[in-house]
Amino acid sequence: MSTAEQLQDLSQESAPLDLSERTDLVPIFIMGKKYDVPSTLTIQKALEYAGYQLIRGCGCRGGICGACATVYRMPGSPRIFVGLACQTLVQPSMYLTMVPFFPANRAVYNIDEIQPDAMALLKAYPELAKCMGCNTCAKSCPMDIQVMEYISAALRGDVERAAELSMSCVMCGICASRCPAELGQYNIAILCRRLTARHLRPKAQHVAEMVARIESGAYEEPLRKLITADLETLRKLYVEREMEPHTAPEMWQPQEKTYL
Ligand code: SF4
Ligand code: SF4
Ligand code: FES
Repeated sequence: MSTAEQLQDLSQESAPLDLSERTDLVPIFIMGKKYDVPSTLTIQKALEYAGYQLIRGCGCRGGICGACATVYRMPGSPRIFVGLACQTLVQPSMYLTMVPFFPANRAVYNIDEIQPDAMALLKAYPELAKCMGCNTCAKSCPMDIQVMEYISAALRGDVERAAELSMSCVMCGICASRCPAELGQYNIAILCRRLTARHLRPKAQHVAEMVARIESGAYEEPLRKLITADLETLRKLYVEREMEPHTAPEMWQPQEKTYL
C-alpha cells in the first residue's frame, strides 16, 4: 500500500490508541535490534514506542513536510523499500535503519528575471538533460507522483504541466536518493511551480490584499499583546483556540474572523 493510500486509511482512525490494551504485537528490527510493537503503529510511532526520541527527521507527522523519508527492507526480498515514516504502517519483520540526507543541487536564481522555459530550467539544473527515463523516481515516490512525467515536461519546457504534476510533492527527496542520473527532481519541480505562479498564472488578489493589511500595521497590536502575554493567558488561548476539523470542507472558515 502506498503512502497516499495509507493517508486515506489513517484519516479514518477514530479513537486514540490505548497502547496498554494492545496484544497484536509484531516484531520489527531497528538498526538490527528486535522490538515488538503494536501492529497498527506507523514507523514513526513504532520508533517512539521502542524508546527512540525523534528530534530530526520528524516534522508535521501528517504526511506534508517530507522530513521523515525512510528506507526499509523485508526478509526474503532484495528490494529496498521507501516511505514516509509518519504514514507507513509497520509490517512484521521489517528492517529499519536511519539513512543519511541525500544532498541535491539547489540552484540560486532570481524568479523575476528568468523565463518559464526549458532554457531557464536547463541553466539552473543542467543535469535535467541526463534523465534516462528509467522511472525509478516515480516507482519510489510515496505520494504516487508521476515524477518522470514532470521531469520530461520540464525538459520539453512545459513548465505549467510540470508544476501541475508535482503539486503534491512533499520534498522528501526519496526520488533523488534513487535516481541513477543524480537529479534533484523536487528542486526542479519547485522551480516549475514558482515560475508558473510568477509568470504564467494571474496574481492572487487575496494575497495582495493580505500583504497590504500586514504592511498597514493591522496586526502589530494583536502581535504585541501575544508577545507580552503571561504563560497562563497563552495557555488559555491555546486550549480554547478554534481548530479546523479533520474532515472540514475546502471552504471552511473559523467563526472568529477578526484577523482574517
Ligand atoms: S516527487 Fe520526490 S521529493 Fe516529491 S514527494 Fe515524490 S519522492 Fe518525495
Ligand atoms: S530516476 Fe532519474 S533518470 Fe530515472 S526517470 Fe527519474 S529522473 Fe529520470
Ligand atoms: S513528519 Fe512530515 S511528512 Fe512525515
